[in-house]
Amino acid sequence: MHITCRVCGGNVQEFVDLGRQTMANGFLRPEDIDSEHFFRLAVGMCESCTTVQLLEEVPQHLRYHNAYRYHASGSESHRKHFERNARRFMESEPTGPDPFIVEIGCNDGVMLATIAQAGVRHLGVEPSGNVAELARAKGVRVLNEFFDVKTAFAIRAEHGRADVIFGANTICHIADIESLFLGVEALLAPDGVFVFEEPYLGTIVGRTAFDQIYDEHVFYFTVRSVQAIADRFGLELVDVEQIPMHGGEIRYTLARPSRRTPTPAVNALLAEERTRRLAEPDTFERFGNDVKRVRGDLVALLREIRADGKRVVGYGAPGKCTTVTNYCEIGPDLVPFICDSTPSKQGHLVSGSHIPVRPPEAFSQDYPDFALLFAWNHADEIMAKEKSFRDAGGKWILYIPDVHIV
Ligand code: SAH
Ligand code: TMP
Ligand code: ZN
Repeated sequence: MHITCRVCGGNVQEFVDLGRQTMANGFLRPEDIDSEHFFRLAVGMCESCTTVQLLEEVPQHLRYHNAYRYHASGSESHRKHFERNARRFMESEPTGPDPFIVEIGCNDGVMLATIAQAGVRHLGVEPSGNVAELARAKGVRVLNEFFDVKTAFAIRAEHGRADVIFGANTICHIADIESLFLGVEALLAPDGVFVFEEPYLGTIVGRTAFDQIYDEHVFYFTVRSVQAIADRFGLELVDVEQIPMHGGEIRYTLARPSRRTPTPAVNALLAEERTRRLAEPDTFERFGNDVKRVRGDLVALLREIRADGKRVVGYGAPGKCTTVTNYCEIGPDLVPFICDSTPSKQGHLVSGSHIPVRPPEAFSQDYPDFALLFAWNHADEIMAKEKSFRDAGGKWILYIPDVHIV
């Protein structure tokens, strides 16, 4: 199947199909099983601008609303990362006496709280009302709307132009990328920067991290595709930085053309992407085969554990676990529950696969033989915290980059 590219109107050719899926953060109450929204989770690459994107999308109001489950402050490493980000912006970016920092998708205020505490002028744009309220409780100023060209003009009229526009794990969620970039172009100060941190296609392909593919991630960026997007919408890609978040992301910095000298990192990563054939069909063909192999190995291992009469419990219910459990057809028969520290996920079911989510105590009160680590990007933090599980003889199962036991 193919569709028209959301960036350039070119032809997007499908390369991987993860089947019939529901929404990654659609954790539902048992009584709401009949109201699930299904779609086909498939990804393709534009033959013209190379942007990798979903073929089918879930309408944004179904994804972001007053019961949005993802709370960015849920992990220690995220809190530290975004606090560092905030300090970095305040130290190095804004010029002038009264800088203005805007965050698209500020969620529970994990980044902006530090900016607010410092008394720096800021605005978070956050459509999900519940997390917007959490941010407000931290003293963050929030506009409870979707960021687009319309809201951007309204913000400019009220507050003036922004020295920094930031987005983390949000820019790749916004299907109407043209409206987003027109908005950024309208709001950005002449010497301002648009900085965003998003999952990297190079990591997804390189580590077979197929669980990064889900309804909210409409785009899967590379340096090459972001450069093409920036050019198309009148901005320039001036810096890239690899960061460890979510298993491997890139932080892109865009500015108005000829305002900043691009750092050598841009060309270096572009060259690396060429060497890795990151925009070539054979790379995606191999990825598709790797994904099928991981599915086969994981299901075989879980069946073997069940046949041996051993217990396995899931650890961490990130949105990613929805893709994995539904694609691999793993239900409560193979993984009876998943423990997760997010209160709003507990007592709910993973959408589609209907595996119950329970609090972490359900894990620690009665250790299973194996813990399947869905929150693999927090492996260090979680394994350190749950040291006594290992001490008691428990074993961790990971499936990225391949199925293995540690
Ligand atoms: N920045 C945080 C949260 C990422 S989750 C982090 O990196 O952890 C993505 C967030 O983007 C959600 O809170 C969602 O409500 C918000 N979002 C989705 N579409 C948006 C849009 N068009 N404008 C602004 N925020 C959006
Ligand atoms: P994320 O990778 O998208 O941040 O999601 C991680 C999920 O794992 C989130 O739902 C919270 C959960 N989690 C735990 O349950 N315990 C932990 O110690 C950590 C770090 C995360
Ligand atoms: Zn395109």
